[in-house]
Amino acid sequence: MNENTLTDHTRKYPRKITLSDGRDVEIKLMTGEHTDLMLAFARSLPEEDLLFLRVDITEPDVVADWVEKLDRGFMTSIVALDGENLVAYATIQRDPTRWTRRVGEIRVNVAPSLRRLGLGRNLIAQVFDLARSLGLKKLMANMTLDQRAAQAAFRRLGFTPEAVLADFVEDRSAQLRDLVIMTYDVDGLSADAGEPLRVD
Ligand SMILES: CC(C)(COP(=O)(O)OP(=O)(O)OC[C@H]1O[C@@H](n2cnc3c(N)ncnc32)[C@H](O)[C@@H]1OP(=O)(O)O)[C@@H](O)C(=O)NCCC(=O)NCCS
Repeated sequence: MNENTLTDHTRKYPRKITLSDGRDVEIKLMTGEHTDLMLAFARSLPEEDLLFLRVDITEPDVVADWVEKLDRGFMTSIVALDGENLVAYATIQRDPTRWTRRVGEIRVNVAPSLRRLGLGRNLIAQVFDLARSLGLKKLMANMTLDQRAAQAAFRRLGFTPEAVLADFVEDRSAQLRDLVIMTYDVDGLSADAGEPLRVD
C-alpha cells in the first residue's frame, strides 16, 4: 500500500460539494466521532433499505467494529453531512489476503430524500480516487438481484455485473436472495474526485 499517496488524498478533506438541487453538503473522512450520527442515519432508513444492509449498522457494536477497521487501516470511509445530519456514506474495504489484496469492496448509501441528486455518483468518484491511491486495481460492489435501483446506478457509473450467486444472501427477514457482484477496473477511472465520472 502506498500510504503517502493515501495521506495526500485524505488531505482533501473536509470538502464541500454542491448537489444538483443546489444544496451544499460537507464531505469528511469518517472517524469514531461520527458513530452517533451514523447510528441515527442507519436507524432512519426505511425498512426496504434495512432489509438489504450487508451488516446491521443500526447496532452500536457493528459501528464500533467499523470504526476499529478505519483505525486499523482496513477501511476508508467518507461521510456526507447536511448541516448536523449525516446523509450518506461511502466506504472502501480492502482484503489483506494475498490473492485479493488489489481488490477493494465499495459500499455506498444515500438517504432516500437525497437520492437522484448526484451524491452517490460523487461519493463513488471520491472513493475511486482513494482506491487508486491505495494501489487497488479492481473494485467490487455487492448487491442482491432485487436491488434494481442500485444495479442501475452502478451500471450508470460504469460497473458491470460479473457474477450472480444463487441464494447467497439471507436478508434481515431470513429470506434467501441472489447476490450480484459488479466490478470496475480502477485504471481509467476519474482522476478528479470532485467531478462526476464520465460513462458516456
Ligand atoms: C445506489 C445509490 C447509492 C445511488 O445514489 P444516488 O445519490 O441516488 O445516485 P446519483 O444521483 O449520483 O445517480 C448516479 C447514477 O445512477 C442513476 N440512478 C440512481 N438511482 C437510480 C435508479 N433508482 N434507477 C435508475 N438509475 C438510477 C442516476 O441516473 C445516475 O446516472 P446519471 O448521472 O448518468 O444520470 C442509492 O440509491 C442508495 O443509497 N441505495 C441504497 C443502498 C444501496 O443499494 N447501495 C448499493 C450497494 S453498495
